[in-house]
This record gives sequence, structure tokens and C-alpha cells, in this order.
Amino acid sequence: MSKTVAVLTSGGDAPGMNACIRAIVLACEREGHTIIGYLHGYNGLLNQEYTHLHAPRVHNLIQQGGTILHSARCLEFKTRHAAQRAAENLNALDVDTLLVIGGDGSFRGAMHLSEHWDGQIIGLPGTIDNDINGTDATIGYYTAIETAVDSIDKVRDTADAFERIFLVEVMGRHAGFLGLSAAIASAADFVILPELFDSEDATLRQIVEQLTERREQRGNISYIIVLAENVWPGGINSLASQLTERTHSEVRPVILGHVQRGGSPVSQDRILAMKLGAHAVSLVGTSVTNIMVGEYHDKPCEVPLEKTWETKPLSESDVETMKRLMNNRYA
Ligand code: ADP
Ligand code: F6P
Repeated sequence: MSKTVAVLTSGGDAPGMNACIRAIVLACEREGHTIIGYLHGYNGLLNQEYTHLHAPRVHNLIQQGGTILHSARCLEFKTRHAAQRAAENLNALDVDTLLVIGGDGSFRGAMHLSEHWDGQIIGLPGTIDNDINGTDATIGYYTAIETAVDSIDKVRDTADAFERIFLVEVMGRHAGFLGLSAAIASAADFVILPELFDSEDATLRQIVEQLTERREQRGNISYIIVLAENVWPGGINSLASQLTERTHSEVRPVILGHVQRGGSPVSQDRILAMKLGAHAVSLVGTSVTNIMVGEYHDKPCEVPLEKTWETKPLSESDVETMKRLMNNRYA
């Protein structure tokens, strides 16, 4: 039976969100569902700000970064009153199913809404951080790795030319997925991640030991450290000055920042976005609700929303690879 489906994008935007919206619109049209796009994340739900979506609107969209529905954060949505207003607005448009593309914060918001709205709620993981439990990857993660690796390759050129130490800060909020993947793929010399961080002193000692040994063997060489954001007390500039002091060398800090959230999605993100969008629409009208659709071992899966914000561990084999090839004096 045809349903009214609403979709919104919320929290940190990620490359591939548009590809996901496209998949949802096309799959909904195929099933005869009506599809509405709420604008500006949960703000759109509160202000009844929406647009009707049809196939022509998503033509030529798969390769575009950002999100045509815009994203936002909405503190007010955390209140009971706001969730009640959102429920009234959804009912006023006869929405049967709400699809939320976002990160774990957005899924907490979806769960909060479910306490006040009886409709079906399905989350789709969209964040460059890949920090959502229950899915192997999140939409946007693969593109962010490419962007970070491409940038670190460029940093390496100038680092080599000057035989300098560079610190490159990557995003990840409180998770090291992006940092670990970017460091492995760019052959960084050292990586500092929230999951593996011990103490400032132990880390500095490890770096200096590795660097000293290298310099003894090979003379003055460039050295690249990937630093995940929010790990180092005092931030990247503090680490840069501590390293300058200990190594008596010039240290240049580079913050990659929001560049990592932009750009055309790589094919892995497009494919994931399409698979998850199509899978979410296949569940419309069923009794399945308050879940996120994800992909586990190459198969679509459904994960209760409250499981999605449990801590997701780094891949053991990635960590092992990092330990064998980086962060040690043989690297
Ligand atoms: P992300 O989805 O990228 O993790 P945020 O953590 O910023 O992003 O969350 C996005 C939005 O989700 C918030 O601005 C807020 O509107 C909503 N949200 C987050 N946590 C809650 C919560 N506990 N209750 C209700 N809404 C929430
Ligand atoms: O969650 C995605 C993310 O880009 C994090 O990696 C980063 O810490 C945060 O969002 C930045 O958020 P803002 O949009 O508020 O700058």
C-alpha cells in the first residue's frame, strides 16, 4: 500500500547524503509512495519546512557533495515540547515513515521523537566519522579518507623538500576511524588516536625515540604525524610546541578541518548510500521501527537505534597493521 515517507539530513553533513536521498526518492516512486524532504535537519520538523521530492529533483545528484535538504543542529529538539510539536507536524502531513540520515546524535533525536510519535522511524548512517555501531561503514567515511589521504600526500611533498616534521589533524569527533585509515593509506610515520592514546609523555617519548633512530640511520628526514582531533590536551599547537622543544626541529601543524566533509562522494560511498536507501524503503510499511539500516559483512542489516551509539571498536586488523608498520622504531 502506498505510504507518505519523509526524509531529512541532520548533524554533520557527509559526502553521499545526496546519493542516499536520490536512492530513497527513486525507490519510493517505484513503490508508489509520496516523498517529502524536510529541510535543515530537525529544525524543518519543528517549523514544518519541507519540499515535495520527485525523480527530476534528484537527477544529476549522485555525484554532488553536501545535501540538497541542508543539514543543521537543533538544540531545541532535545526538549519534550519540541518532539511533541514535530509529531503534530508529521501527523498534519499524514507522514507514515520518517527516514533520518545522520550520525549517532541524530539517531538519539529520532529515538526521542519516537516517544511522542507513533509513526515508523528508520535511520541511515551518514557521517564521515564512521563512529556508528552496527554498520561496517557510514556514508561519507570513504570519501573523507580519500580527501585526507590526498591532502597528506601533498603535505608530504613539502615535508620531504624541507625535511620537516608535520602534524596533520584529521576529524573524527571522538573516534579514530578516519585517522587510522588515513594514516595507513598515506604511510604516515606516527598516528595518535583517541582509542589508543595513553599519555602525553609516553607518546612524546615514542615519537622522539623513533625519530632519533631514523635520523641516526638516514640523516635529516621528513616525518609525518596524523593526529585525530580532540585527543591532544591543548590541541595541535600545543603538541607542535612540545615536539619543537624535544626535537629541536621545526614542526608545522596542519588542520584539515571541514575540507574533509566536502567533495564528490567516491564510488564506495555512492554504492553504500544507494544500498542503504533502497533497503530502508523496502522496510516502509512493515512493523520494523526505531532501527538504523546498516551493512554488516556485505549484507544489509537492521540495528535498534539505541545500539547505534554504543562504542564501536576500531578494526583489529587495521590496528595490527598500524602497529607493525608505524609508531615503532622499525618504521
Ligand atoms: P550527528 O548526527 O552528526 O551525531 P549531533 O550530535 O550534532 O550530530 O546531533 C544532531 C542533532 O540531533 C542535534 O542538533 C539535535 O537536534 C538532535 N539530537 C542529538 N541528541 C539528541 C537527544 N539526546 N535528544 C534529542 N535530540 C537530539
Ligand atoms: O560528526 C562529523 C564532524 O565533522 C566531526 O568529525 C567534527 O568533530 C564535527 O562534525 C564538526 O562539527 P561542526 O559542524 O559543528 O563544525
